[in-house]
Amino acid sequence: MIYEFIQTTPQFSEHIALIRLNRPKELNALNLQLMQELKHALAEMDQQEDIRCIIITGNDKAFAAGADIKQMESRTAIDMLIVDQFETWDQIRKTKKPVIAAVSGFALGGGCELAMTCDMIVASETAKFGQPEIKIGIMPGAGGTQRLTKAIGKARAMEMVLTGKFITADEAHKAGLINRVVPEEVYLDEALKLAKEIAQLSPVAVRLAKESVLKAFETGLQEGLYFERKNFYMCFASEDQKEGMNAFVEKRKPDFKGR
Ligand code: CAA
Repeated sequence: MIYEFIQTTPQFSEHIALIRLNRPKELNALNLQLMQELKHALAEMDQQEDIRCIIITGNDKAFAAGADIKQMESRTAIDMLIVDQFETWDQIRKTKKPVIAAVSGFALGGGCELAMTCDMIVASETAKFGQPEIKIGIMPGAGGTQRLTKAIGKARAMEMVLTGKFITADEAHKAGLINRVVPEEVYLDEALKLAKEIAQLSPVAVRLAKESVLKAFETGLQEGLYFERKNFYMCFASEDQKEGMNAFVEKRKPDFKGR
């Protein structure tokens, strides 16, 4: 598939792939084609064994300023239902490898929701997060009322969703929405550093651990604990578990193969 609105670098660094959202004039507004391309690229990267971690970024001015308003403006409810554009977001959530959002500038509406669908967020000091849909007569539709509330709590999420006001990277960090805030010059480097740390570890254990953390978001405690336990036991079916534990006992660095 040839991409028009994203750029992909599968070998951005050892075991790490990069996807850059690339509609700079429209502040990376997420039109249907861009989201299809993103879904396709993520699915391909998820299949490639040498890739262990994926970074999604935009540019310094915008991660993404939301779903494409111009594309949605004249749609009816039935058009929306048939197109079901947020199904693409579900696919992104299903990516098995860790996905890090490297965010600078605007992460608004669907852009904020896309970042929240990723597993971790590294932001530049200039990043702004918001769910401004209310200002154009709609509401968040791709997880903004759910993931944001779980991440930062009801009071803050309610205010953001009902007023549409943005929060800064520092505020987002203090609220627990994002992992790091760093100067604009280094936000991608910082995301890469985090990706490299994860890429050294057992891909099998990382995958099972990611699934388990997401379960905490999506289910009750008992079911989550049960799921976690199964995944924990499952780790012992891997060569990586033997390698990791042997390396500890032999006081050497483990060499994980993802098997
Ligand atoms: N959709 C379509 N086009 C967009 C866009 C969007 N979400 N955001 C920005 N653009 C376009 C602008 O229309 C403009 O295009 P033109 O040059 O052709 O006029 C270009 O990008 C640059 O934008 P601005 O001139 O507005 O730039 P600014 O720096 O003055 O303002 C901004 C930046 C505050 C982000 C402003 O662009 C803005 O408010 N954008 C819309 C944000 C928004 O409401 N997002 C939610 C969308 S709905 C949604 O996401 C639903 C969901 O839950 C998934």
